[in-house]
Amino acid sequence: METDNQYFQMPRIGDDAPQFKAITTQGPINFPTDYKGKWKILFSHPADFTPVCTSEFMTFGKMSKEFEDLNCQLVGLSVDGVHSHIAWLRTIREKIDWNGLKNVEVKFPLIADISMEVAKLYGMIQPGESTTSAVRAVFFIDPKDKIRAIMYYPQSLGRNFDEIKRVLTGLQTVDEFGVALPADWRPGDDVIVPPANSCGVAKERMEESDGKDLHCYDWFFCTKKISKEEIEKKL
Ligand code: BEZ
Repeated sequence: METDNQYFQMPRIGDDAPQFKAITTQGPINFPTDYKGKWKILFSHPADFTPVCTSEFMTFGKMSKEFEDLNCQLVGLSVDGVHSHIAWLRTIREKIDWNGLKNVEVKFPLIADISMEVAKLYGMIQPGESTTSAVRAVFFIDPKDKIRAIMYYPQSLGRNFDEIKRVLTGLQTVDEFGVALPADWRPGDDVIVPPANSCGVAKERMEESDGKDLHCYDWFFCTKKISKEEIEKKL
């Protein structure tokens, strides 16, 4: 395979989100500046008028109010022009009845990235998959414009949008409550308290375990309860 460094720039977790200006279905945007103080999910799809992408947009379109309620702006992207985007979104709303979803209106901006400038800036073009269209990338960007989580899926596999929401809620819970989250965590499940960093704290933790709501499986692995209601009130 021919290699070309232009494809290999990939922002990393902890980096500032690369800035760009783009044309979208909701007018021009300056990213991430236009969304200061908000969480952002920037995601790519391979192409308009394709079935997996259509199922994804119907799912994200249906859930977009849930993301709005979490102070999160969705921004999509593909290597297509704005007129193709407009025609595809109109077709989705007017004609497609899939999986119990119909009349789905996609109100979040969809970037027209014919030049692949933004797709390359975010490492969304992965030449082993395609040199002319994006893979399914998802960037979670916090209100300070730092990249906090990244997902990459191949073109043939639709994403799980409940997982995308779980990751967003998880990142917000980590920030709001100063905790870490165990495997498969969902709001309402026990959370992990920061690890003991001295022998004294380790001893205290073990002594306090199972008093109030702290439970330690061992000195380095302690959990506490945060109810779903408490999380929903804060986020
Ligand atoms: C789709 O969205 O259906 C699709 C796009 C590119 C490759 C494979 C599937």
